[in-house]
Formats: sequence, structure tokens, C-alpha cells
Amino acid sequence: MSMSMSKQNVLVFALLMFAMLLPPIQSLKLKAGNWGKTFQKKNQEKETNLQFYFHDTLSGKNPSAVKIAEPLDKTKSYATQFGNIFMADDPLTETYDPKSKLVGRAQGIYALSCQQEIGLLMSLSYSFVDGPYNGSTFTLVGKNSAINPVREMSIVGGTGLFRMARGYAIAKTHWLDITTGDAIVGYNVTLIH
Ligand SMILES: *[C@@H]1O[C@H](CO)[C@@H](O)[C@H](O)[C@H]1NC(C)=O
Ligand SMILES: *[C@@H]1O[C@H](CO)[C@@H](O)[C@H](O)[C@H]1NC(C)=O
Repeated sequence: MSMSMSKQNVLVFALLMFAMLLPPIQSLKLKAGNWGKTFQKKNQEKETNLQFYFHDTLSGKNPSAVKIAEPLDKTKSYATQFGNIFMADDPLTETYDPKSKLVGRAQGIYALSCQQEIGLLMSLSYSFVDGPYNGSTFTLVGKNSAINPVREMSIVGGTGLFRMARGYAIAKTHWLDITTGDAIVGYNVTLIH
């Protein structure tokens, strides 16, 4: 009898050790259409994955981004547009189609910050209007090597559901008109909050 008890104890102990080695169970907390999901591992922070498209339009009568400053001294010009600054209020949609569902807006400044390449300093707030993310924002700051097909930028904070967020955005150019600069960019965002 006492022999079988101790065998049982060994078995329970072994099972406990095994359970501790398993990854914590991740549960789905929130979902927005096909563009947003929030998970939480047991006793850990939440993770949100967002996929959306950013539409930056410089051309036409109603551009979503406008130049607000440029170098004062026109004799010093850079092929990379170094020194130009733009203000943007760009729609974010669920698919690459500009007429697809509006999920938010990217608002703020991007500035041509590189002498040797076309590179932007991004300083933008991404505000969402759809589903459980309605009213929440995150702040993206960092270098955007806009000519690279894929680039990564840092997310340094957030509000609402994304309060205390940190994370990264992988941005991939979906479409670019080199003459006007108009672009549609796919974003894959990972946030921990
Ligand atoms: C988002 O929130 C605003 C303000 O609370 C509300 O007026 C609007 O209807 C909401 N939109 C959606 C899509 O839930
Ligand atoms: C996000 O990443 C997934 C997996 O690599 C990819 O299938 C999807 O097209 C990406 N979404 C966007 C908006 O770029």
C-alpha cells in the first residue's frame, strides 16, 4: 500500500514537472474582422497582431499628406530630398483596396532625414476606429527606408487598449507611383501591452 502511494507521488511530481515545461496556454481575447487579434498568455501581458493598409496620397486635389517645410537654402539640394517635412493624415484600411473598410488613420509627421538614401523619420500616431480597437492608438517612431520593399519600425507607446504598448511594425510596399510618390503600404504590427 505505502509502496503504491509513493509510486503515485512520483507520477504526480513527474506530471507537474512536465506541465511546467509546456508553453503557457494562449487565449483569444478580442478580434476585429480579419485585421486584428488580441491574445493573452496565462498571467502575462496581452499580444495584439494587426494587419492593415496605409494609403499615403500626395497627388490630386485632396492629398492625405502635404509638404510643410523644406531646406531654406535652395542652393544646397539633395537628390534624396533631405530636409523636406510632410504632415500626413493617412487612412488605414482592412485590405489594399482604398475603398475597403476604414479601420483607422495614421496622423503626424514624416521627415526626409537621410542624406545618402531616401529615408524618413516617422513620428506618427495610429488611431483606430473599428471593433474593440475603436478609440485606441499607438505611436510609431523610427527610420523608414522607404525604398526598401520591407522595413521594420518601432512602436514606443499607446493609449486605450494599447496603453503601455511596445512593439514593432513590418511595412511592405504594396504599390508605389514613383512620379507622384503616392503609395499603399501593408503593415503587420505586433504589440505587447
Ligand atoms: C467608435 O467610438 C465612437 C465614440 O465612442 C462612436 O461614436 C463610434 O460609433 C464607434 N465606432 C465603431 C465602428 O464602433
Ligand atoms: C502580414 O504577414 C502575413 C504573414 O507573413 C502575410 O500573409 C500578410 O500579407 C501580411 N499583411 C500585410 C498587410 O502586409
